[in-house]
Amino acid sequence: MKIAVGCDHAGFVLKDAVVGFLRSRGIDVADKGVFSAEKADYPDQALAVAGAVASGEADAGVLMCGTGIGASIAANKVKGVRAGTCNDPEAARLGKTHNNLNVLCMGGRVIKPDEAGAILSAWLDSEFEGGRHLVRINKIAAAEASDLSGRVVIFNHPLVQHKIGIIRDKNTSVKEFRELVQEIAGLMVYEVTRNLPLTDAVVETPVASAAVRSISGKKLAVVPVLRAGLGMVDGILQLIPNAKVGHIGLYRDPATLAPVEYYCKLPPDIGERDIFILDPMLATGGSAAAAISLVKQRGGRKVSLLCLIAAPEGIKKVRESHPDVEIFAAALDDRLNDHGYIVPGLGDAGDRLFGTK
Ligand code: RB5
Repeated sequence: MKIAVGCDHAGFVLKDAVVGFLRSRGIDVADKGVFSAEKADYPDQALAVAGAVASGEADAGVLMCGTGIGASIAANKVKGVRAGTCNDPEAARLGKTHNNLNVLCMGGRVIKPDEAGAILSAWLDSEFEGGRHLVRINKIAAAEASDLSGRVVIFNHPLVQHKIGIIRDKNTSVKEFRELVQEIAGLMVYEVTRNLPLTDAVVETPVASAAVRSISGKKLAVVPVLRAGLGMVDGILQLIPNAKVGHIGLYRDPATLAPVEYYCKLPPDIGERDIFILDPMLATGGSAAAAISLVKQRGGRKVSLLCLIAAPEGIKKVRESHPDVEIFAAALDDRLNDHGYIVPGLGDAGDRLFGTK
């Protein structure tokens, strides 16, 4: 195991103790400085250590500044790094078991050098627990992949979570699956339409005049990606019945695996509409990104993607290809398997909607 270490002047004495302790445990140490107690700026060493961890040069990192706080703030700017300030063994243990800290930060003005060993041992000897903590870490990873302009919204609403739980179950019938997909899509509309513009109006109630607000004629379009996206359309139209519906058909070229268009019919005024592309499973993100490109090529400007279950890989792909597009997902899962299925996911949404398997 190799650990990169670094410090500023305020962590210099502590670093000596840390390097000695790590070497006494047979750990290979990559010392990124500083090498004297002269004044230094902690971001320099923090970014060097974080870079070593993110690139794989080191398996993990240890940083020391006065408090451990500045070093962790700087290290966390590097993608893939999970740095945290742990100035006692319990924080270090929980930092590993819950947060899978890959950079441990300590404060040379907070702890004494002879306290470092217990903190390091608590961190090194603990295992990440995964499970619910992995779900949370994946949310951080998704946010990291989305540090561009559009938002990534994962629905935490209990009703959505409850219904997602049922459609994941392989024993859920086609009929129930289809109904629940519509219901979840409908629930998602509340968040998706949160920023629709309103205009003020006045109506007469049986009792008096009332100031009311109504949606100010915004044009909307829903565009399901065939065929699984069809399963979400009616749930959305129940709440926004005046939306126009376009359709996109894509297949995967067996030779190149690239998505190829076989059908595309969009409302003619697509450029004036807020567009919601529907694709229940955001797996690799290849077809979602291609569908968004297609809509943009036909003049679409304000595009959002609605899916039921997203994998971090799919979010990353869409964010990289279309940083302006907002992604709404009812759930964020762990990863893709070797066949490109979302894990744990719910299987093939198209087959489960249409009973074709
Ligand atoms: C340096 O004086 C000190 O501010 C720094 O080591 C650190 O504590 C910052 O978080």
